[in-house]
Amino acid sequence: MKCTIAVIPGDGIGPEVTTQAKKALDAVAEVYNHIFLYKEAQMGACAIEKFGNPLPAETIETCKNADAILFGAIGDLKYDNDPSLKIRPEQGLLRLRQELDLFCNVIPIKAYPKLIKNSPLKKDIISGTDIAIYRELSSGIYFGKKETSKDGLSAFDICSYSVEEISRVAHLAFKEARNRKKKITLVDKANVLETSRLWRKTVLKIAEEYKDIDLDIMFVDNAAMQLVLNPKQFDVILAENLFGDIITDVACVVGGSIGILASSSVGEKNALFEPIHGAFSKAKGKDIANPLASILSAALLLEHLGLTDEADAIQRAVEKSLDLGITTQDLKGKNQFAASTAKVGDFIADYIANQEDSNLNFTNIYMGQSTII
Ligand code: IPM
Ligand code: MN
Repeated sequence: MKCTIAVIPGDGIGPEVTTQAKKALDAVAEVYNHIFLYKEAQMGACAIEKFGNPLPAETIETCKNADAILFGAIGDLKYDNDPSLKIRPEQGLLRLRQELDLFCNVIPIKAYPKLIKNSPLKKDIISGTDIAIYRELSSGIYFGKKETSKDGLSAFDICSYSVEEISRVAHLAFKEARNRKKKITLVDKANVLETSRLWRKTVLKIAEEYKDIDLDIMFVDNAAMQLVLNPKQFDVILAENLFGDIITDVACVVGGSIGILASSSVGEKNALFEPIHGAFSKAKGKDIANPLASILSAALLLEHLGLTDEADAIQRAVEKSLDLGITTQDLKGKNQFAASTAKVGDFIADYIANQEDSNLNFTNIYMGQSTII
């Protein structure tokens, strides 16, 4: 297969981790005989610096014309420390979601056996957890009218949803539940919010078309608590934009580390793949960031292109790196030797390309003793 992948490295550790994801994709291209053409595009703080715009028109064009988009991260301490700045990196991502109508964000959360000890939650609570969060991504309070009064003493953000906007993401979630444990939990706040009441009414109606799927409904405050008390009760979770944003980060604790979680954001025509973690500006350029979330984003991208064997090859390589402990500092104990961002990327690419090699050889690479790379 020949395809074009728009790559948006972005800010902070974004460029470092996407470089590792590209290494994995290059290894896949070599083994499975594909051609991946990368088209780099700018978005975020780096684009503000260069073009005065967090999302230049050229980036939108590049993304629209690509078969898939691989995105790193955006954000910079300069903006984080000053929320009053009018032009902000996040606006780039939010506008891209809207321009491409990326209405469905999917976040798979799995407790990897090797990472369970990294989670602050108890082993028997999280082991075996396997959740897919379906978050509506292009509407709701994020994109409603917002304003601060002239005197600066009041402000509002409007949250609105249409039946159409709810239905399209709900159908995707119900379809996914069919491939899984056949359970959906709708997360809302229908005891208080009108939009949540519309979500509930719409989803209950759609559920009639999916009689084989078990629909559960949970208020968002309770869902946040249940995710830490008993995450295994969930299969597919469906939520509106802001609730989805919040419970996703809560659910990350279950996976052991935010450094390994990837997500996809899909629309009718385009799809973007990115790590859950942000720009982690303090680690920028230090070669210590965990590249696994970005590498797993590349796996989701391949799956989206229908290349499931190839996606599995990346997934297996990531699991191998966890098994062998070829991981960055965030997944290690205090005095344990950690691999650098680039070394983890090299290992993953090497494992994809030479799966028949012995573990010993990989361990040597990890220890910096390899002659292969
Ligand atoms: C996410 C992020 C974004 C969001 C920010 C960067 C605007 O937190 O992708 O979850 O809130 O959607
Ligand atoms: Mn978020």
